[in-house]
Amino acid sequence: MGRPYHSLLYNPPARAGFAVIAHRGASAYLPENTLVALEGAIGMEVDMAEIDVLLSRDGVPVVVHNERIHRATGGRGRVAHYTLAELKRFDFGYRFRQSRGERIPTLEEALELCAGRIALNIEIKTGAVRDQVLGGVEELCMDLVYRRGMEAHVVYSSFDPRALLHLKIIDPSAATAVLYDKRLYPGSLAPGAIVEHLRADAFNCSRDEISASWMDDCAAHGIPVNIYTVDDEKTMRRLMAMGVGGIFSNRPDVLRKAAMEAPPTAL
Ligand code: G3P
Ligand code: MG
Repeated sequence: MGRPYHSLLYNPPARAGFAVIAHRGASAYLPENTLVALEGAIGMEVDMAEIDVLLSRDGVPVVVHNERIHRATGGRGRVAHYTLAELKRFDFGYRFRQSRGERIPTLEEALELCAGRIALNIEIKTGAVRDQVLGGVEELCMDLVYRRGMEAHVVYSSFDPRALLHLKIIDPSAATAVLYDKRLYPGSLAPGAIVEHLRADAFNCSRDEISASWMDDCAAHGIPVNIYTVDDEKTMRRLMAMGVGGIFSNRPDVLRKAAMEAPPTAL
């Protein structure tokens, strides 16, 4: 049986049985995966924020999407090749005039901002995952979450099945979500079987991958489904009518409004 995202929230959700998730924070309006983008999501009173995590060269979990820093900063090189102190010199807000000078957050800083205010989906990026169970990015993230007392309000997700298995070995009570990667699973394998195999709590896929038969399969297994990344209202409404448990959006304010207006779904 799965664990729906709305069971992890601090406050009652905008829509019953559903989670409005700010993708990389309020990233349509503010630089993605930064503290101002998380503060923006909190200000919009959305249910949860999603952030991506990689490791710096000195092994610090940092909140950033791409393995290379170019898209976020205009600079060169890889996150994994810089120490935290070196990464902090780059301007992660350079593409947004009002947010120039924004620094890369550590996961610890993001947790400090979010604790008691907004639930988090921590996506562990494949580039940070290693084969060993202990001492890697998974355990580092979990330790920080426990230290902040946020374990009841965090779900971990990953495209990398190793990360999901490691998390459950370290702490079976941690909530995890499979991020579907079609290159990893035979087409005949339905979501329910994948989620059970990885001992996960939810199934997440893109708006283009979800189908009525996958929704049925997840419902039959009691597995919640969350969909990324949806910025247009029409698709938001269609997915809510299909009974998805959450949507990731770069425009979480638009999603929140659509979620409050949409008729309830018989689940
Ligand atoms: O977790 C949903 C989504 O963030 C996965 O894709 O590439 O935006 O991290 P990506
Ligand atoms: Mg992500």
